Amino acid sequence: MPSTQWWKSGAVYQIYPKSFYDSDGDGIGDINGIHQKLDYIHKLGVSAIWITPFYPSGGYDNGYDVSNYCDVDSVYGIIDDFDSLVLAAHSRNIRVIIDMVFNHTASNHPWFLESRSDKTSDKRDYYIWRDENCGHEPNNWGALFGGPAWTKDENSGQYYLHLFSPEQPDLNWENDEVRKSLYNVLKWWINHGVDGFRFDVISLISKDPNLPDGVIESGHSYGNSRPFVANGPKVHTYLKELRQHINDKMCVGEASDVTIDEALKYASIDESELSMVFQFEHMDLDGGESFKWNDRVISHKELKEVLYRWQIELSGKAWNALFWCNHDQPRIVSRLGKETGELWECSAKMLGAALHLMQGTPYIFQGEELGMTNYPFTSFDELQDPESKNAYIEYTENGMFTHGQMMNYICKKARDNARTPMQWNNEKNAGFSIGTPWMPVNPNYTYINAQKQIDDKHSIFNFYRDIIALRKTYSCLVLGSFVPIEPVNDSIFAYIRKDGENEILVVCNFANESLQCYEIIKYLKNSKQLLSNIYYNNKILSGILAPYQSDVWLLNKNEGEESL
Ligand code: GLC
Repeated sequence: MPSTQWWKSGAVYQIYPKSFYDSDGDGIGDINGIHQKLDYIHKLGVSAIWITPFYPSGGYDNGYDVSNYCDVDSVYGIIDDFDSLVLAAHSRNIRVIIDMVFNHTASNHPWFLESRSDKTSDKRDYYIWRDENCGHEPNNWGALFGGPAWTKDENSGQYYLHLFSPEQPDLNWENDEVRKSLYNVLKWWINHGVDGFRFDVISLISKDPNLPDGVIESGHSYGNSRPFVANGPKVHTYLKELRQHINDKMCVGEASDVTIDEALKYASIDESELSMVFQFEHMDLDGGESFKWNDRVISHKELKEVLYRWQIELSGKAWNALFWCNHDQPRIVSRLGKETGELWECSAKMLGAALHLMQGTPYIFQGEELGMTNYPFTSFDELQDPESKNAYIEYTENGMFTHGQMMNYICKKARDNARTPMQWNNEKNAGFSIGTPWMPVNPNYTYINAQKQIDDKHSIFNFYRDIIALRKTYSCLVLGSFVPIEPVNDSIFAYIRKDGENEILVVCNFANESLQCYEIIKYLKNSKQLLSNIYYNNKILSGILAPYQSDVWLLNKNEGEESL
């Protein structure tokens, strides 16, 4: 395999530290907990870990409200623990990527405290302050976690902007000093040995300076700010500047509302801005009028259309970040596979293969490699995330949904589903903590856990291990082109990855039923099966795919050639 940037052939493992492993028995995961589990991560074969925020925080949004960018929150440990973790990870050839929340700070960050203390303070312009508009907020924008996007500061009578919650005031990127201060943060962490950054909601940093009112969509009380804050006028200028401060480190931006045209700039192959972006078009397919609170199911046809389009349009021009799961998404096996019964395992593996073998850097969210599922929430009190708590209150109080409806939607879509503790074994608290876990453990830990899967060669864990290894063995799975095989049933994802050396066919059945795939057979003649999640009675050579089957074949280049 020719040498290329490590993140192109490697996979990244995302860690939500609060729920990963608790080394000191306080019920909350920590940095030493990650350290103690490095061998597990190493066994999976990933090239890097991405750790979500572990900095001192206001505590409103699980670390995405940072009150000190250059330290470790005492609940997670101390900076020496982080330094030891980096050394230990590097000794296993695992890179460390950290999360930078630069669109906003916590409202108890010293910059904001100083900014709000006085209109004439040096830090006043670090944030976005505006006068009231005819006795109201400066404009009609709603905050993503509910309520208006502006909060009045009684002290000065002015309002500050917060796209998320009042506890997360937006930084003013127009201010040179703000940007310089943030670049110093990057330098500080680079000196602590980090190998890359994930930039939180980076597409929102540049706002339309006129801050116009947004359209009030049906089911909403406030105007939509997105057209005026997502991919704003100076975002690419800022990112080009930011890039100068991180040299060749890997950087991935979270970019909701990003179009392909924008992604071609953010994640251009010349890396003048970022190495890649997380786009959400595939994950938003089951969204709707009441944001994501519904029980809509993602259509296979639409999913395929979106994923293929991103593959084809970015090919050779920009780089994809591939993901099904993260700390903001429900568990993928519950969303697109089967969360119980005999097809649970098969569907979890199929989803892994379908994603990892496309072009881009694959991300695995802790527990995805075990097929962890959504949590069966039954009451409001079990929720922790302000997003779902606020939505529950808003929609049940305004009569839009009943308690039953809202709990059903929460079980399907809430971010809380991703945040239940990692399931290590079938002992107390799934081996996550000897204390009382900060979130309930999913009761299915007795059969879904790491200990059960590590030594089972047919486990989901080992299937993930195999697909990660496959990408490192065959260069066509990394830089090779992506050629869809059409026409096939809407629920069958079939594509070929090819370069000058090899051609590999990937075929995945997203349906919970057997499907015919005669279009595929011609390619398989004299070809070699590299991987399958169907170990017995595999009928692919007679043109039949079992429910959730996924197969990977190294093609004999002389067969099926004419159709490529
Ligand atoms: C990103 C994070 C999410 C957080 C939000 C506000 O979307 O992934 O967890 O709540 O930004 O910082």
